[in-house]
Amino acid sequence: MSDSHSTAQPDHEHSGGGTAMDVGSGLPEFLTQDYLRYTQEDHDIWKLLYSRRRDALRETGSAIYLSGAEWIGLEPDRLPNLNHVNARLAERTGWAAVGVGGFMPPVQFFRCLAARRFPTTLTVRPRAKLDYLPEPDIFHDVFGHVPLHADPVFADFLQHFGALAAVSPGEKETAEMARLFWFSVEFGLIKEGGRTKVYGSGLISSHGDAANALGPKCERRPFDLDAVIAQPYEIDRMQDVLFVVESFEQLFAAVETLGNRRKPNV
Ligand SMILES: [Fe+2]
Repeated sequence: MSDSHSTAQPDHEHSGGGTAMDVGSGLPEFLTQDYLRYTQEDHDIWKLLYSRRRDALRETGSAIYLSGAEWIGLEPDRLPNLNHVNARLAERTGWAAVGVGGFMPPVQFFRCLAARRFPTTLTVRPRAKLDYLPEPDIFHDVFGHVPLHADPVFADFLQHFGALAAVSPGEKETAEMARLFWFSVEFGLIKEGGRTKVYGSGLISSHGDAANALGPKCERRPFDLDAVIAQPYEIDRMQDVLFVVESFEQLFAAVETLGNRRKPNV
C-alpha cells in the first residue's frame, strides 16, 4: 500500500479560480520548525525510515535524486533541520522547504510552488504507521520531495508548474495539471544510463510503491504529455501505469506546452 503522496492532493476539488496573480503574493503563513522540540523517538523513526529506503535507492533511485539528497545534507540518524537544508538549496536553486501544519488548499499549494516554496509537514509519522500514512509527513516531504529541488532543471519545472496550476481556468485544465503532477512529481520514473530509476516522491519514500513501479505488474510507458494528461489514476492503490522521462527537460517542456495551449489564438 502506498505511502502518503501529495501535499497538493491533486484530486482535491479546486476553486477553479482563474484570476491571475503576482508570483509570490497570496502565500499562507508558514510554521517555523522548532528543531529542539523533536524527541529522540522522532529522530529514531527518521533513522529507521531512512535506513530502509537509502540502501535500495542506491540501486533504484535516480542519480539526480541521490546527488540532491547529498547536496541538501540529509543525515541518516536525525531529522533534517530546514534552516540547513534551505541554506544549501539557496546556493543552487533558491528553493526552500517551508513548514505547514497539514492539508493546504491546492491553489495555495501551487502559489507556494510558483514562489519556490515547498510546503512541508514538520511532524514525523508515528511508529505504528511506518509503512502507510494517508497524509504527508516530514519523511515523505523532505526525504521524498526536497532533494530534487536542488536540481536546476527540476527546480524550474516545479516553479513553472505551480504558476500554471495556480491559475487553471477550469476543471479540464485542473485535472490535466493533477495528472501531470501525479505522474511526475509523485510517481515519476526516469531513464538513466539505460536503466529505469525512480524519482517521484511517492516512489522514493515507499519501498512497496517503488518495487511495484519497477516490477512486472506496472506498465512503464515513455513520457508523452498527451498520454499523461489523458491517464486517470487512483491514489490508494498500487499504480499499474507509470511514465518514464528521458530527462527533466521533458517535464519543463510539458508545462510550457500546456501554458501555450491556454493562450488565445491570435
Ligand atoms: Fe508528495
